[in-house]
Amino acid sequence: ESTNEKYRPEYHFTPPFGWMNDPNGLVYQDGIYHLFYQYYPDSTVWGPMHWGHATTQDLVSWYHEDIGLYPDSLGYIFSGSAVFDAENSSELGTDENPPLVAIFTYHDMESERAGNEDYQSQGIAFSTDKGKTWTKYEGNPVLPNQGIRDFRDPKVSRITNINGEKVWLMTLAVKDRIQFYESPDLKNWNLLSEFGQTIGAHGGVWECPDLIPMSAPNGDQKWILFVSINPGGPQKGSATQYFIGDFDGKTFTPDDEQEQWIDWGTDNYAGVTWSNLPESRTNPLFIGWMSNWQYAQVVPTESWRSAMTIPRELELFEANGKLHLKSIPVPEIKDLRSAPIQANDGIIPLPSQSFEFQAEISNSTDFGFEVSNEKGEKLVFSKDGNEFSIDRTQSGIIDFNEDFAKKISANMDWEAKSIRVFFDAHSTEVFINEGELTMTVISFPSSPWKNIENIHGLDNSEVYDIKNK
Ligand code: FRU
Repeated sequence: ESTNEKYRPEYHFTPPFGWMNDPNGLVYQDGIYHLFYQYYPDSTVWGPMHWGHATTQDLVSWYHEDIGLYPDSLGYIFSGSAVFDAENSSELGTDENPPLVAIFTYHDMESERAGNEDYQSQGIAFSTDKGKTWTKYEGNPVLPNQGIRDFRDPKVSRITNINGEKVWLMTLAVKDRIQFYESPDLKNWNLLSEFGQTIGAHGGVWECPDLIPMSAPNGDQKWILFVSINPGGPQKGSATQYFIGDFDGKTFTPDDEQEQWIDWGTDNYAGVTWSNLPESRTNPLFIGWMSNWQYAQVVPTESWRSAMTIPRELELFEANGKLHLKSIPVPEIKDLRSAPIQANDGIIPLPSQSFEFQAEISNSTDFGFEVSNEKGEKLVFSKDGNEFSIDRTQSGIIDFNEDFAKKISANMDWEAKSIRVFFDAHSTEVFINEGELTMTVISFPSSPWKNIENIHGLDNSEVYDIKNK
């Protein structure tokens, strides 16, 4: 392992080199899950945005593909989504070979520098070779700026509108609100409605939305609206809020005005869901960017920056009479487990830097453990009453940003029964009760993690080495 590969994960997606932020263009087709991402290949800090491209069949082994979209005269290629246009409504493919269509934001840097406000607009591109190569539509932009500076991150899905017609819906982040647009062909867009100017968290600008239908445990159909916000998350910096409600094909109406958070950690941002999933996959599939704009550009990795979270399946559940979203690690990860290593006297020696810790919780209001190395550095996990926390104040390299060293906490006021924690070089993802409470944090120990110790309030603690095939 060369030093500039230090902290490179084993089973999480990272760019080959250079800078990465948001996941983009998540679409499935013919056995392949596509992941595009905000990418600047020429530096390890943010710059002229491209769409990098990777594919996977099992959501754990990733293959690097050629860059999907390059900046052009209309601007950098900011975040967006991709759909399979099965009926060739866009006429960008043929009826026999319908296209994949990517819908993204153009950010015109020169126009921004010139002091204009209208430098973000929406463009499209298409592929008729299953995502290998992309052509930008010559009529771009398809949705010009409407006079508001922050006007970006289109997430497109197929819906039935209020007239009962199948149409495309664009969910767009517009400064402090969401705008919904409708289109018959992905080229012509009409404003349907707005949501959120006076609802939810507003400590920062709204970004990277998504709107998906899901079944509640009682069988009712609900609509979940995701809105990333930066800054203004519950731990400061970047985070993703969501609202559960109804969508009638035109307007989103939340059940209540209080936002919820998809992940209570510092490092899960701009996450959205895959489109065109196979029928065998019954739950929505989500992935997020595993960093935070507070410090993403200064973390101590050398040749590349940032990873994605493990992909997660989403489900609705009820606790204390209220619906919430849970995030479940995709089952495919279990196939990478080796034989379990059991705890002995509250200690488990670690087989590598990519492993999973699993336990049953015997004391819901008082349990914990520590992950430590031979330098005395540690990550401390604990639940004290209703408060679950990860303390990374002594986790190794912490001085690159003043907000990094801290104890990250969240409240869980129902019973905690089980815990799974995924570690992978520089990342930690906690799933309590299979994702009823989720906390994702990154950390940079100066020497490898050696033990899990001080295990208490837990039964049947074990560790699985996780190795990619
Ligand atoms: C979110 C974001 C998006 C934007 C992209 C630019 O992290 O700010 O709103 O499209 O990153 O890289």
